[in-house]
Amino acid sequence: MQELAGKHIVLGLTGGIACYKSAELCRLLVKAGATVQVVMTEAAAQFITPVTMQALSGRRVYTSQWDAREPNGMPHINLSREADAIVLAPASADFIARLVQGRSDELLSLMCLARPMERVPLLIAPAMNREMWSHPATQRNLRQLDADGARVLGVGNGWQACGETGDGRMLEAVQLFEDIVAQFQPKVLAGERIVVTAGPTFEALDPIRGITNHSSGKMGFAIARAAREAGAEVTLVAGPVHLPTPRNVRRVDVVSAADMLQATVLACEDASVFVATAAVADWRPAAHSEHKIKKDGGGKAPSLQFVENEDILLTVAKGARAQGGQLFCVGFAAESENLVEHAKAKRARKGIPLLVGNIGPLTFGQDDNSLLLVDADGVRELPRAPKLTLARELVAEIAARLPSRSRR
Ligand code: C5P
Repeated sequence: MQELAGKHIVLGLTGGIACYKSAELCRLLVKAGATVQVVMTEAAAQFITPVTMQALSGRRVYTSQWDAREPNGMPHINLSREADAIVLAPASADFIARLVQGRSDELLSLMCLARPMERVPLLIAPAMNREMWSHPATQRNLRQLDADGARVLGVGNGWQACGETGDGRMLEAVQLFEDIVAQFQPKVLAGERIVVTAGPTFEALDPIRGITNHSSGKMGFAIARAAREAGAEVTLVAGPVHLPTPRNVRRVDVVSAADMLQATVLACEDASVFVATAAVADWRPAAHSEHKIKKDGGGKAPSLQFVENEDILLTVAKGARAQGGQLFCVGFAAESENLVEHAKAKRARKGIPLLVGNIGPLTFGQDDNSLLLVDADGVRELPRAPKLTLARELVAEIAARLPSRSRR
């Protein structure tokens, strides 16, 4: 996906060992279709060479305000006006302090000060030793930068180059990349709280075995990511899947349908949108054997009894209606045939405003899908596309239908 096609990113590097990660970040940005102009401080050039960043960005790096390439002699003006965003990665403690003071005695700080604030966001990826990070001066400076309109992207936790362990590592390149992509998404769900269920459930028979399905969780995880990008606070209730948590999404891991019901009801208490993407098991074994069910050697298979699981979507939607609440519920239907009829019937049965239909065998485990949106006005198809693209389209459709929106 060329997620940053047409975007021009100014990538600023300051002095820190995390500069090695910025090489990878630059590569990811270029691969996603962005043009990248690298600007480095003198200290940054001690950690990684401008030649490396030039090769990865395909552009000559700027390191000085006296760069003779600019006909008007003002690289700080020209570079900051061309940018769709300025990303400082790594941002050292010293550079952050300098930004707070509005200092401008070298190109990168000069350019940050000269940026048109209303149109060019400044994203900051701090990187420093844990003591420097937790020092009141640094924390005070970061709060000030935030108040001054910059976006501080946070730090990672773990082993540091100095040999200590704690907060202050620069975020990984893929995490920064996700944050930069998110920056450009329209904030259509700002102020909303959304709960998404995703993946299969696992209904245990005994300590060894259980019943599950082929849901990969990819669609639900994409919806959680898209909702977060759109400015919502997101809780993702995930069945057993092996997928990384989207950035800045609260994840609650569950195993069985009963666990998922409990976690979802709790999360929906103060939510405004609920999207039920999970492929919840319809039945669970009536009894759970404490020990492994053994073969009896006589060729006789055990007879298993099942009981129906509670329908999470139905329960949550009913509960919200009973309380006269404003929870906007979206259901999914994975069918193998007659999608339109099944989807319409399911929307009516669940009593929800929007039902999204898809063909199970064409979506499970895939990276792309096509969706059929069924609401009171009829049916609309979102044609085959990557799941993240569909998720963003679905988020826009949900936002347009929110009662709170029409009042605004
Ligand atoms: O009735 P069916 O299982 O086909 O409905 C699918 C929709 O209902 C999905 O949105 C799914 O997440 C939700 N569902 C649920 N709890 C269940 C079964 C389905 O939330 N026990």
